[in-house]
Amino acid sequence: MSKPADQDFDPLEPETFDSPYAVYADLRARCPVAHSRAWGGFWALMTYDDVREAAGDAARFITSVQNVVPKVAFTGRRPPLHLDPPEHTPYRAALNPLFNAQRMAAMEAPTRRIAIDLLEPLLARGAGDICADFSSHLPIRVFAHWMNIADDQAKVLSDVGRDYNIAVQANIDDVVKAASLKLYDMAKAVVEDRRSQPLDPAVDAASALLAARYLGEPLPEAMIIGTIRQVLVVGIIAPTVMIGSIAVHLSRDQALQAQLRADPSLIPAAVEEFLRLYTPYRGFARTAVEDVVIGGRAIPSGEPIALVYASANRDERKFENADRFVLNRPNIGEHLAFGRGAHNCPGASLARLQLRIALEELLARTASFDLNGEIRPTRFPEIGALSAPLSFTLPRESR
Ligand code: HEM
Repeated sequence: MSKPADQDFDPLEPETFDSPYAVYADLRARCPVAHSRAWGGFWALMTYDDVREAAGDAARFITSVQNVVPKVAFTGRRPPLHLDPPEHTPYRAALNPLFNAQRMAAMEAPTRRIAIDLLEPLLARGAGDICADFSSHLPIRVFAHWMNIADDQAKVLSDVGRDYNIAVQANIDDVVKAASLKLYDMAKAVVEDRRSQPLDPAVDAASALLAARYLGEPLPEAMIIGTIRQVLVVGIIAPTVMIGSIAVHLSRDQALQAQLRADPSLIPAAVEEFLRLYTPYRGFARTAVEDVVIGGRAIPSGEPIALVYASANRDERKFENADRFVLNRPNIGEHLAFGRGAHNCPGASLARLQLRIALEELLARTASFDLNGEIRPTRFPEIGALSAPLSFTLPRESR
């Protein structure tokens, strides 16, 4: 068994949009269970099999100690991510039905309206940043609709959510804490409002959590607020980054862009392959409850372990030509973009809906688009585009 090296890789090294993928391919080949000294030290699982196994074993690999690398400002326990089963189970039982097929069918028209509303002024300008001008707004407005938040509150959420994201990316602790507290206040206001005026639990997250019972008892109020606060952020960042990454890919591959524009029925399959190729998360974490050996390396209990989903999904032992976009690859259903096991993403259906509609509308309303500036990448715990300046050529009839 090898001795843990102090530093197999440094996540604080400057990165480009593409560079982490080469670093991760090298680590998968040379050091698939890697250690870094950054942020107080953490382990990183790089291969598909190791990530899948740890994500699927919630009894040995828990989230309640540290659920993300680096650990960000902590304002109390926020279900479902910060709880382990069985405590975690009632929160998921309340949330999961709110993402069912019926609810998603009802979200389709409002999501498309929001996407068009945001795209129209951007496309009319002929150029702009697909992240700053479109994909950072879309998930917040869609989310506010899913959460039944009034328009004025949705605007506050939009501003605070953006402050929070920017501060997390820039590691500005004070701003993260301030924004996090504001999000808490918003969550609290939503819960108080639903307590006095409940909505149908089949269509409202806060009402569903208030109506839930665990061992015959209501869920603790502080934990309900924590859940709403958790969902406020976790559902916002990933679609922002992913739409940016997809736009970068399609700018670089004009043939694929034209193919999807000509045949929109290919878009759902393309979204699935984009989810694999541009998995936006690399920092969700677990802590082993006992000393474990993974890939021949001893990981002591209590040390944070990042599940590098973005690396797992490019593992060439699982996905042939893993760095290439392949439409309808046979095992695409096995990608880990939404995690695996107890904490897998409950919002996957809403995420897929947003990605599909964003792409449908962007392609239908342009004759082509291309990069016209530098891509700015995100840092840990996300991976992908934080800023992608594009120029747009509009179809002849809309010029
Ligand atoms: C492209 C978009 C998205 C991606 C790739 C994504 C990915 C993920 C992943 C990988 C996890 C697992 C975390 C872990 O293993 O520790 C997760 C959890 C979660 N996601 Fe998503 N997500 C997306 C969008 C959303 C949306 C739109 C919502 C809600 C509106 C959402 C709500 C959540 C929640 C509440 C959890 C925690 C689940 C738990 O701990 O049981 N996500 N997501």
